[in-house]
Formats: sequence, C-alpha cells, structure tokens
Amino acid sequence: MNEWVIKGATIVDPDGTRQGDVAISGGRISEVGADLSGERVLDASGCIVSPGFVDLHVHLRQPGREEAETVETGSRAAALGGFTAIVAMPNTEPAQDSVAVVEQVRRWGEEAGLCEVLPSGCLTLDRAGERMAPIAELAASGVRLFTDDGNGVQDPLLMRRIMEYSLDLDVVLAQHCEVASLTAGAVMHEGCCSSHLGLPGWPAVAEELMVFRDIELARLTGARVHFLHLSTARSVALVRQAKADGLRITAEAAPHHFTLTDEMLRTFDATFKVNPPLRTRDDIAALKVGLRDGTIDAIATDHAPHPAALKEQPLDTAPPGMLGLQTALPLALGELGLDLPEVVALLSWRPAAIAGVSDRHGTAVRPGAVANLAVFDPEATWTVDATRLASKSRNTPYQGRTMRGQVRHTVFRGTPVVIDGEAQR
Ligand code: DOR
Repeated sequence: MNEWVIKGATIVDPDGTRQGDVAISGGRISEVGADLSGERVLDASGCIVSPGFVDLHVHLRQPGREEAETVETGSRAAALGGFTAIVAMPNTEPAQDSVAVVEQVRRWGEEAGLCEVLPSGCLTLDRAGERMAPIAELAASGVRLFTDDGNGVQDPLLMRRIMEYSLDLDVVLAQHCEVASLTAGAVMHEGCCSSHLGLPGWPAVAEELMVFRDIELARLTGARVHFLHLSTARSVALVRQAKADGLRITAEAAPHHFTLTDEMLRTFDATFKVNPPLRTRDDIAALKVGLRDGTIDAIATDHAPHPAALKEQPLDTAPPGMLGLQTALPLALGELGLDLPEVVALLSWRPAAIAGVSDRHGTAVRPGAVANLAVFDPEATWTVDATRLASKSRNTPYQGRTMRGQVRHTVFRGTPVVIDGEAQR
C-alpha cells in the first residue's frame, strides 16, 4: 500500500505536462498514473505537482545572527515556499570557510528536516578577499557552490588563482559582482531617482565591471562561474554574449529585481534597501528577457532576513536585504509573462543542476525518484502579511500585496512537511 497519494494534480516536470496522481512510499515516488490509492491523500485538485524548488541563494544567519533567522526558521519559510533544497550563503558569524562550520550548518538543516540545506563555502577566508579559503577541503566535505556573497572578490589576481585552483574540483564559483570602491556609502541605485532624493548612488557599472572581469577570467582559465543576483540590463547582455561564446557560465536573478524599481526608495523606507539595489524599468525589462531566453538560468531569492530594529534605522545605516522565500513562486508566475513550465524550470530543475543535486531535486516525477515535490495552486490568491511569514524577520517589501499562486503542499524525502499551507514541523 502506498503511504501517500497526491490526487488530482497536473504534473509539470522536465518530461512535460500531463494529468496523473503521484503515489509515495519509503521516501520515493512509487507510482504515477490514474486513480492511485494510498493510506493518506493529499488533495491537489486544481493544482500543479512539480519537482520541489531549489533556491541557490538564501541567508539563514546561523551561526551568529540567530535573532534574524535560524536554519530551522529559514527552512520552514523555504518549505512553505515550495522549496525542497536551499543553498545557505556563507556570510554567517563565523563565516562558512571551514569544514567545521559547514558541517554544523548541514547538521542543523538535517535536524530541522524541512528541506535539504546545502551550505555554500567561502571563496576567501572570512570573506575578507585576501587569502583563498580551503576550497578543496570544503569540496571534499560536499560543498559545491563557493562565494563570498555580500562581498565580491575585489582582487583580480586572487580571483584568477581561485579559478585556476577550482579546475580540478567539481565546484561552482559564484560571484557577488560589486566593485566596492564604486559603491562606498551608497544606499540605492545611482540614477535620476537618487539625484532627486539626494541619496548616494550604487552605479550599475559597479556590477557590470565585475561581471565583465569574471567573464574574461573564465575565458582565460576555463573555470565554471555563476553570477549571483544580476540586476542590470548590461550585465544580462554581457552574460548572453559569454554564453554564446561557449563559456561555462550561469546566472540567477532575484524576484525583487524583476518586480520593484528604485522608485520605491522615495518612501525612504529601508525595507527597499537591498544589495545590489532595486534598479530601473529598463533593467527589469532586460532581466525578464534574460529569464525568457535562457541567459539567466535560475530564479534565486536572496532571502535576507534582518530584524526590525536594524531595518527601522535610517537608509544609510540599515543593512541591505529582503525576505524572499515565501513570495518567489507567485511573483515568478505573475510578473514574468512566461508559461508555467518555464517558471517551474527556473525555480526547480535549472537551479538543481547548478547546485549539483539533480539526482534528488528537480528530477522527473517518475517511479523511483526521491519524493521531493511542490504542489501549488497557480490561481489561488492571498495577501502578504509579514506577521504570518515563517521567517524570524519581517522585512518583506511586499507587505499587503495580493499575489496569485500559492503553495499547498511540500513533500520532502517522501514526507509532507507542508500540508494545506501549514508547516507540519
Ligand atoms: O541585500 C543583500 N543582503 N545583499 C547581499 O549581498 C547580502 C545580503 C545579506 O546578507 O543581508
């Protein structure tokens, strides 16, 4: 007898779109077909069942900033957002530059049991940009994605050496593209709006210079490079050309960068302060084209919780960052003008391939596959209420906004960890 059966859904996966029930036993999909039965039923009428989503970019804050988020609370937000795997960014305190810290984060993820937590590793010790982190040792312990996120590696020689060093390893070097000398003191995108407001601006070129530099270093070395949270039209054009040239490059975009503009800073509300900053309508249009034509491989949230006491500070002192895990799906469904299977690809199997977890996430819904699944109603509407989000922090820029598309159930390793929109642990 099957343990669970998901009934009445439309299956959307790398094999295509079709009707069918999905039965689960022993952590795996046991049957796919019509009129299946099981001990317990997850009603999915009107819903889509797809491989669970994979977020390449999540700040879980533990160790060190547990007042903002923990591995458990962030994992719960992820599960409620339909994610079955998340890459944990390394800007913790201490940073994820040692096997000890990385293994501790992974262990916390296993204890929470809500989704698979994949710790990233630092590119440089303490993300200071001075000396290479023990990348081979971290890779041997299972780390796939390396980044100093929050900081870009400023020194081109060091970045070149890291790229050369990475060639013998099955790793992805993920760059936060920001030339720091061009953004010192900046609080928002540099443009008309920052001029009107008299606020110091973060120019687009600060991102684009590093995108260009790393494309050229990847051309020189052959390294595999992933660009985090692309935010400008020119960055998208550079990546498009690099891919056409055959370089091993991938890129992601965050929902806030394709839905919100720098005009939001007219409120002077630091909820809208994020790094890289919210850009212009033209940048949004270019990101959407990039997501449509495959230049951008994945939607990644850059979920960045911060406590109210910090976000309520003035713009110059408040930290950058926004919540993202529970709003990614409806924003991707509603704002990109893409067909539903393309949206699911950007949230699931494309990022799964970059994270190196395609054996268990983003896989086709077939018997034998590990049952990591998202079940969502693409038509259901709901209104964002920050106080009801699972994160420990409240810094969503979408407070009060009505969204279409809602996660109903999430199945992680065969166990429903979200049922009817409620976390089960
Ligand atoms: O807005 C951001 N917040 N961008 C980053 O790169 C880091 C992140 C954080 O850690 O809060």
